[in-house]
Amino acid sequence: MTEHSPLLGGLTPARFLADHWQKKPLLVRNALPGFTTPISPDELAGLACEEEVESRIVLERDGPQPWALETGPFDEDRFAQLPETHWTLLVQECNKYLPELAALLESFNFIPNWRIDDVMVSYAPEHGSVGPHMDQYDVFLIQGLGRRRWQISTEPVADDNVIPGIDLRIMRDFQATDDWVLAPGDMLYLPPGVAHYGVALEDCMTFSVGFRTPTVSELLTGFLDEVASGLDDRQRYHDPDLPLQSHPGEITAGARTRVRRIIRDALADDAAIDHWFGRYMTESKSGQCAAPPAQPLSADAFLQQLQATGGLWRSEYARFSFIDDGGDEITLFVDGQAWPVPRALAAPVARLCDRRRLGPGDFDEALQDAAFIQLLSRLYNAGYIEWPQKDGT
Ligand code: SIN
Ligand code: CO
Repeated sequence: MTEHSPLLGGLTPARFLADHWQKKPLLVRNALPGFTTPISPDELAGLACEEEVESRIVLERDGPQPWALETGPFDEDRFAQLPETHWTLLVQECNKYLPELAALLESFNFIPNWRIDDVMVSYAPEHGSVGPHMDQYDVFLIQGLGRRRWQISTEPVADDNVIPGIDLRIMRDFQATDDWVLAPGDMLYLPPGVAHYGVALEDCMTFSVGFRTPTVSELLTGFLDEVASGLDDRQRYHDPDLPLQSHPGEITAGARTRVRRIIRDALADDAAIDHWFGRYMTESKSGQCAAPPAQPLSADAFLQQLQATGGLWRSEYARFSFIDDGGDEITLFVDGQAWPVPRALAAPVARLCDRRRLGPGDFDEALQDAAFIQLLSRLYNAGYIEWPQKDGT
């Protein structure tokens, strides 16, 4: 991404990160000049009828109670029965289904891609909204169709400021500190915890680039589960040097030290934490996997086809990241698995992780390296990389 891009309203990515990221909202008019929705409201409704697609409808009125939540997949008939106004359809992970939205994520490459979650697309007729609320993650809200009025509040939100008895966390009391109308191409960045309330002024589609922020609880339970699963029942607390205690009822300092040491030793291995984290952050949250190609290819056949095709795309069903800890190998993480790679391939592997779409020129002399072609062909045979889609933009 170029410095001073319109995406960030003339800010450099470094300035945006320093002043706004996780700190304060940013409204950017015409952030994506000419951006129009690559999917129509009807097509979005079609996606919401698919079994593997995660979707929701929020009904402010006409449900069993105000702010009713329905979860997909939906029957086509459901859309014919919806009221004229006051509802929203939200579809998660649309970057998987629309190459244009996968390409849109590349504009956010100034943030590490293991932090990026997905592009959610919403459609709402006039007055449609999901109510005033706050999210625990950063989001870029891009207007793609029609106008939406966004009100936000930068005041802290009390834990009990929530409408009771509904399936959604919607604020009972919302006082806006800022108020804007966004038109197609405009974008609003919100850090976690900033209350926001978007209402469609007319047929409206919003594209939300959302981020993954693991909770401390997820980090601890995830890593400790893995450590614990590698242990067996014979590894346990032992005390062959047990001294005679004056109070059998006491848990002594000696016992406490021993327990603390067991727990701290289990957490002490930095390389094990890094390895687990790389796999954890590249795992698919939905459990949906990349589809392997019908015809697996040998390394030679893969290279021939790469040269003929002129490029390759990463599958949106697989997340890619790498760790370079300065050793002889770097570790490529794809879809929750670790692939150790010789340091000589660090540059092309980094490029593979940095970009979703690559041409043979992006790999330069690495295409002469049998180990790299072997790696690419294994990734291809697993469905993690694929040939460019002809109509993809
Ligand atoms: C929407 O697109 O209607 C909701 C997005 C959000 O508030 O996070
Ligand atoms: Co939100």
